[in-house]
Formats: sequence, C-alpha cells, structure tokens
Amino acid sequence: MSTEFSESILRWYETNGRKKLPWKVKDPYKIWISEIMLQQTQVATVIPYYNKFVDTYPDLQSLSQASLDDLMLLWSGLGYYRRIKNIYLAAQIISKKYDNKFPKDYEAILSLPGIGRTTASAISTFSGYSHRAILDGNVKRILRRYFNISYENNSKTEKILWEKSIFVTPLKKTSQFIQAMMDLGSLVCTRSKPNCSMCPLGELNCLYTEDVQKISKSKKNVKKINMYLLTVINSLDEVYLEKIESGMLWENLYSGPFFYSAMKMNSWLKKKRISAAKIKNKFEISHRVTNKDIKITNYVYFLKNNKNVSLSTENWYNLAKINVGIPKYFDKAIKVYRSEYEKNYVQKVEKRG
Ligand code: ADE
Repeated sequence: MSTEFSESILRWYETNGRKKLPWKVKDPYKIWISEIMLQQTQVATVIPYYNKFVDTYPDLQSLSQASLDDLMLLWSGLGYYRRIKNIYLAAQIISKKYDNKFPKDYEAILSLPGIGRTTASAISTFSGYSHRAILDGNVKRILRRYFNISYENNSKTEKILWEKSIFVTPLKKTSQFIQAMMDLGSLVCTRSKPNCSMCPLGELNCLYTEDVQKISKSKKNVKKINMYLLTVINSLDEVYLEKIESGMLWENLYSGPFFYSAMKMNSWLKKKRISAAKIKNKFEISHRVTNKDIKITNYVYFLKNNKNVSLSTENWYNLAKINVGIPKYFDKAIKVYRSEYEKNYVQKVEKRG
C-alpha cells in the first residue's frame, strides 16, 4: 500500500471533495441505485433522477412491487436503459433470495445483474461492509497518467490497473479515498484539459505529460447512423407509440415508430394505410449514444380521423402527459413538435426559461 499517494488524495478530499451528495448515506439500497445511475451519467444529471427514484421507492420492499414499465418511466431520459432492467431483475432476486435486504456479502453483491467488480466494491465499501479498491473510468485515467500505463484496452493492462488501484487504496478511510478518486477524476484529472496545477499528485511522482492524441484517436470509432422517425398525432392530441422490442437499443421504452431506412418506413406507412399526403412537417434531430452519432429525420403526421388507418386503438398517449418511458431522442422530437404547433406550449417554455 502506498501511503504517500493515499494521504495526499485524502488531504485534497478534505477541502475539495464533494461531500454533500444525496447518496452519501449508509443505506446500501440507496448507494446501489446511485452507483448504477452514476455508471454512465454525470453527477449533476443524476441528482434529480436519484431523488425522485428514492422518493418513489424508498426501500427494496417498495421497489420489488414495481413493474418494469413504472421503472422505465422513472428512468426516462437518463439513457443506458439496460441499467434499469438490471435493477428490476436484481430487485426480484433480492426479494426472493434475501428477503428484501440488500446482501452484505461481496460475492453476493457481485452476482447481481448489472453489478461488476467496481460497482460491487463501491457499494460494499460505501456501506461500510468492506474496504475494496475500485477501477472506474476516472480511477483508470488517474492511474494511467500517474504511472504512465498504456492506453490499450486489453486484459493485460486491465490487470496492471487493478493491481495499481489495490496498491494505492488504503485500508483505513477507504470509502473517503475511493470517493476522492472519483471526484479528482471528474473535477481535476479530467479527460481533456486536466488541471494539473490543482492536482495533489503533482507534487508526487506523477508521470503524466500529454495524452491528447490518444483521446482524439478514440473519437474516430464513432459510427454515423441515419434513422427515420414518425410522430403520428390524432385529432385528440394523442401520439402513436409502440413499445420497443427486446434486443433493440432502447428496448422496453415507448417511441413513435422508427426505421433505419426510408424504404422500410414507406412500406410501414403503406401497410398501415397512412397516406404520404398526410405529412405535415419534417425536421432533423441529432442524437449521440455511446459511439453512435444518429441523424434522425422526423416526419410529423396528423390523422384527422383514424377510420381508414390500421393502427391499434391502444397505442395512443396524451401528448402533453405521456405516462410511459420514452427515449431522449423522442422527448426532443416531441418538444420540437410542440414548440411549432402549440402556441401555449411556446409561451409556457418561454416563461419558464
Ligand atoms: N461515479 C461513480 N460513483 C460515483 C460517486 N459515488 N460519486 C461521484 N461519481 C461517481
């Protein structure tokens, strides 16, 4: 264990760490929810989602009663929806196997869906059950820079990074230390333009010089995708939504029908007997998901009466109060639509803004 490293990190944390985060509690259930939310989402975005989640489901008992649809709605807009499906599955397991009590044993925590080594370590350490090292994106970046470890993503470098993380993590104040590493990674040792002059490791033997090139290289893997989206509105101001099938990106959320080719969209419209003449408007939205840059062309259709159209009557939702989970891109599409077609909506948004 390297005391010099951890002492300097802990000293920095005393004055600079984020200690008032709402999940700074000892309840492993709440820590679990926060850690899953924080896996791919920044703190500022997570806070309102976390507060709403634990207000709605204050404990495992209440969560185990929730349907997946209820949970998808609460998660709506947070992205990476596999996380909420895993929370749902884990809650069922905890209810049946552990009598609605979050397990204390590290291996039991690790075996739950959606929980890898870092999340299991964070939950059990923050709950006071163990003193384990973590290796999330922030910690990896700090260690890579400090020890000048390769940027390759293979099992060999992963193993070296874990060894280094265990080496620098102290057995006392472990919880503060891992929180400090997360905070340092997001506040100082950032991906681009790290603020080395504010870093407590600068006075030690940090080997970091420049890794800008490596960062821009990883940006090249972004895939460009075209998507065609239909926003179909009826005379009651309801929007037509379908549940997204299992196995698709955004599975279990609800969206206007979407397609990856204009031809497929046109044949769907034909099959449903929606005439091309009903098209009201077309606009574009850009949406980014992990390594995909999606250009979405949205077509708005007004259906004055549904008589000739073969769309199920059960798929219509009140546009102003959609009560199922929708992906962020569809939320954007609805906002654009409403700001163009609903005078009151524009005024409301302007007033608020
Ligand atoms: N990222 C993952 N876990 C976190 C935490 N507890 N605080 C801040 N960022 C995090």
